[in-house]
Amino acid sequence: MAIGIDKLDFYIPSFYVSMDDLANARGVDPNKFKIGIGQNKMAVNPVSQDIISMGINAAQDILSEQDKKDIDMVIVATESGVDHSKAASIEIHNQLNIQPFARCIEMKEACYSATAAIQLAKDFLSNNPSKKVLVIASDIARYGLNSGGEPTQGAGAVALLLSHNPRILELNDDSVAYTNNVYDFWRPTSEKYPVVDGALSKDAYIESFNTVWNEYAKRTGHEVNDFESFCFHVPFTKMGEKAFKTILNENVEDSIKNRLMDAYQDSVLWNRDVGNIYTGSLYLSLISLLQNHTFQAGQEVCLFSYGSGAVAEIFSGSIVEGYDKALDKEKHLDMLASREQLSVEEYETFFNRFDNQEFDFERELRQDPYSKVYLHSIADHIRTYKTEE
Ligand code: CAA
Repeated sequence: MAIGIDKLDFYIPSFYVSMDDLANARGVDPNKFKIGIGQNKMAVNPVSQDIISMGINAAQDILSEQDKKDIDMVIVATESGVDHSKAASIEIHNQLNIQPFARCIEMKEACYSATAAIQLAKDFLSNNPSKKVLVIASDIARYGLNSGGEPTQGAGAVALLLSHNPRILELNDDSVAYTNNVYDFWRPTSEKYPVVDGALSKDAYIESFNTVWNEYAKRTGHEVNDFESFCFHVPFTKMGEKAFKTILNENVEDSIKNRLMDAYQDSVLWNRDVGNIYTGSLYLSLISLLQNHTFQAGQEVCLFSYGSGAVAEIFSGSIVEGYDKALDKEKHLDMLASREQLSVEEYETFFNRFDNQEFDFERELRQDPYSKVYLHSIADHIRTYKTEE
């Protein structure tokens, strides 16, 4: 019986800064950020949106009362955890009123762990056909003001409900994972921001993609033309493109290359305007692809997941008839379009407030119809969440 993604949604904070403004403020040619890196805008989160509230906001609209009874496991994938011990999924489980006899855990391996969560969910569901699993990928990507990684920041969460007879994407049994010990990007517990070797991280991404693709092709017999499209982890949109081009080589016909590169552009349209959301980036890209590209039922999508450190995985899924009706297209478009643009000065104030955990509700809690829950306070290390009136 088919197992896969039944429901899919996301949440991004309602503020952003433009790459033109950021480049000008940093004395950089805007084309470096817009063409060289491939980003237009970067989501900026207020202190009142942490990975937990963003996760709740991503999931709240897709869960029916029946789903809340059927969910047996809630997995949060993140590399921006707020606690070494307590899983972020416990608060999310509570706020979403999911039945109490559920497992709640948090998973970590840089930007990769949502994929591990999906594979765990798939295995679990194969033995528990009446159950569902909620996977939430939620992260805040911060490299520091004036840092090399600054134009590749972002914030947001994606929620995926996995079940039998999914409405969106049936997962195939073909995943191949690859682990390679490399210090390209990591976040020591003592540090506020990640430690990054930018050039090495780009090489490690491409090397991982090539290695895991070659193994996947060998094991499955698949070629690029078997897929209607590919979907990548998107730290910035140029990254997936660079990796993809290494397999769209002279052995691939031009018409196939053009078809696949056009589909790639559909898959990164929204990542270009949000920035890196780490664990959720591949799945935001999947939503962008599903909404901006037209599929026939049964067409195949190949997904490449990458987490620095590094773990990579390639797997695939088949498009389900009527998949587009299972996505709230208007909400997604409006959430992206209705955000407020911050000047660079204001973005820096938001950034510093986040570091100092200084709440400014007057400025932060503007009319955001997509944020029903926000972080209200942290007292005695206890986080309190409130629902917008
Ligand atoms: N017009 C057009 N293009 C320009 C340009 C201009 N005026 N000026 C420069 N460029 C191009 C460069 O040629 C370069 O393109 P290529 O990569 O094709 O050579 C591109 O813009 C970027 O230039 P640099 O590499 O010189 O930029 P940088 O040194 O400032 O760093 C970065 C870029 C490494 C991505 C940095 O932002 C960074 O460290 N980001 C965080 C790490 C990251 O995202 N790594 C990605 C792989 S790791 C991963 O995927 C996990 C994850 O999510 C973190």
